[in-house]
Amino acid sequence: MKFSIKHMDPVKRRDACVVAGVFEAGGLTEAARALDEASGGYLSAILRSGDMSGKTGSTVVLHDVPGTSCKRVLLAGLGKEERAVEGKVYRDAVGAVFKALQETGTTEAALFLTTVPIGNRDAAWKVSQAAIIAAESTYRFDRLKTQQDATPTRLREVVLAAASRAEVAESRQALQQGLATAEGISLARDLGNLAPNICTPTYLAEQAKAIARNHRLKAAVVDEKAMEKLGMGALLAVARGSRQPAKLIVLEYWGGTKKQKPVVLVGKGVTFDTGGISLKPAAEMDEMKYDMCGAASVLGTLAAIARIKLPLNVVCIIPTTENMPGGNATKPGDVVTSLSGQTIEILNTDAEGRLILCDALTYAERYDPAVVIDVATLTGACVIALGHVASGLLSNDEELATELLQASTQAADPAWRLPLWDDYQEQLKSNFADVANIGGRAGGTITAACFLSRFTRKYRWAHLDIAGTAWKSGKEKGATGRPVPLLTRFLIDRAGEDRP
Ligand code: BES
Ligand code: MN
Ligand code: ZN
Repeated sequence: MKFSIKHMDPVKRRDACVVAGVFEAGGLTEAARALDEASGGYLSAILRSGDMSGKTGSTVVLHDVPGTSCKRVLLAGLGKEERAVEGKVYRDAVGAVFKALQETGTTEAALFLTTVPIGNRDAAWKVSQAAIIAAESTYRFDRLKTQQDATPTRLREVVLAAASRAEVAESRQALQQGLATAEGISLARDLGNLAPNICTPTYLAEQAKAIARNHRLKAAVVDEKAMEKLGMGALLAVARGSRQPAKLIVLEYWGGTKKQKPVVLVGKGVTFDTGGISLKPAAEMDEMKYDMCGAASVLGTLAAIARIKLPLNVVCIIPTTENMPGGNATKPGDVVTSLSGQTIEILNTDAEGRLILCDALTYAERYDPAVVIDVATLTGACVIALGHVASGLLSNDEELATELLQASTQAADPAWRLPLWDDYQEQLKSNFADVANIGGRAGGTITAACFLSRFTRKYRWAHLDIAGTAWKSGKEKGATGRPVPLLTRFLIDRAGEDRP
């Protein structure tokens, strides 16, 4: 889909479809009013007839509206006019518009929702969100089907309206950022949705190398032999039960200055989590193919920032393995030595994410990082705590946590902070090793982060638990690509600041 921004008149557009917003109870946005006047009240008559409620998310397609030059007018509901249009209303309306556009034969559309004033969001935000939502709502994953079940969208070109000429210039960069974010999201979704017999650790490593080739990044893959030499006993303990060899993928993007310390992103890449010897129940176990969504999201983020050539240094570290039971698998009670030298009593082999992450987090030290952020589908407890709305955020650094929360709000990719107090560390006491890999049922997301915090003492660090947000279950089962929007926004904001 091609996107552009223009300052334009809805009445004169000759596009296949002009999209304008309307409110409940017959209110019109500026673009809708212009069309209404040109058509001698055609739009208001439609609204009076009750065929269009104006409720958020509602749409109606009108053909050959008199007095206009376009083929169709798509009216999009923005809810009640009395209260200011909020970001969420805008996002829902844009999503509904792209759903509706796909059900028409429209090849090109001119979107005027971007000129609707929105409380505390600027034009740049509206433009980048539109690009992201367009890609999200037209996303399909049917490459594993022999026959595509839905007709592909015919929409090829989208022109976003700017309220003024000056706004066109201001929004251009935002459009590029939005399109790059959208590409990163879609990459993360594809990797997540792929079947786990295809998306193995080796496949992930190959994909990472391909991304590196496309975007001129440095790529390296550490294999099991090298891991052994390094002393990555925790990561290797998880890999033992699998026939698929584990990998540690490292991608480096050096877009900043030489002396600038890199941001390190670490992503959990368990391509399938059976639980190992602490086997999971059968119900919905297929969804554990999504246990590599942390890895997918850091790859998507890296691809996004490389595409816009962000002036920042970013390194991506992905420990990837399957978690399988087997004759050689790690057993509850096994004690292993991590790369950090700390010994770990593995009391539950299903708490494997923290085991592969801890070695990757120690490995991150060699980059002398500015900050380290790990992203992981780490705990079922996070789904209980925050549901499927917010990702869990835990950090050993106030400033970093604030920065991430701000990026999260800005990107409309919610995250919520949980405490990382020392009081919780006690739950990880082991009688036989330095630390146990589980801390009991109480505060499961926090104790998991507490475990990780023992390996991140040398730098500023934040952890994102995306167990509830990385994918959807049920009829709409599929990867969401989160938290690519949050991470990309975070890095863009950081690149915009002058930091040592
Ligand atoms: N990948 C799972 C976490 C998970 C479960 C994410 C369900 C999304 C949905 C993780 O490896 C895991 O199994 N965690 C255990 C930890 C427990 C054994 C301490 C969990 O959450 O049950
Ligand atoms: Mn597990
Ligand atoms: Zn897992």
